[in-house]
Amino acid sequence: MQDWISVALPKGRLGEKAYDLFEKIGYGCPSIKEDNRKLIFENEEARVRYFWAKPSDVPIYVERGAADVGVAGKDILLEYVPDVYELSDLKMGKCRMMVAGLPGALDDSGRTLRVATKFPRIAARHFAAQSREIDIIKLNGSIEIAPLLDLSDVIVDIVETGTTLKENGLIPLEEVVPISARFIANRVSYKFKNERMRGMQERIAALLREKQ
Ligand code: PRP
Repeated sequence: MQDWISVALPKGRLGEKAYDLFEKIGYGCPSIKEDNRKLIFENEEARVRYFWAKPSDVPIYVERGAADVGVAGKDILLEYVPDVYELSDLKMGKCRMMVAGLPGALDDSGRTLRVATKFPRIAARHFAAQSREIDIIKLNGSIEIAPLLDLSDVIVDIVETGTTLKENGLIPLEEVVPISARFIANRVSYKFKNERMRGMQERIAALLREKQ
């Protein structure tokens, strides 16, 4: 398996887009498009293996070497800080990490701000930079509900089109950081499979240049 490359893809729309990119640069694996519930796909000829993982688990597979490379959102990388190489910005899955809430939610800076989020580390860092005292409420989804039920004053969450905020009467209050998908690599694999992995990295860079 020394010359195979294992790729961890995030399950969902971003993963499918990322796979299309790998296909375009010559690492296709046609069986992946078959409609079934298999999770691992191999292309003997190209010596490449893909598997679908929960998006937040991708860096774990890559960090521990179960995958040589993977695609992960910058949000996940900033939150979990895995020990991996970030090789390229794939310029897809673009969105923004925002503080959002009901109008005026940030105004009373004297009291502890209750912040609901899936990203406690990112939120803590953001408000620490402002020396603002916060109480983090870690949730796992549907974060937008929290300020509506007065569970929190604000949320720190991903905003893509802004529709979820709008439809729930919330407004963006501060931008935390812009987010996009990143091509990441295991540190040991990058050393021992350097030629193949650099080849992949260069083809990705060439394709992204073409698109600009
Ligand atoms: C994400 C995010 C927002 C929504 C933003 O949720 O947490 O709720 O998408 O997208 P929009 O700006 O285009 O409306 P996701 O669908 O991942 O679900 P969850 O956070 O509730 O798990």
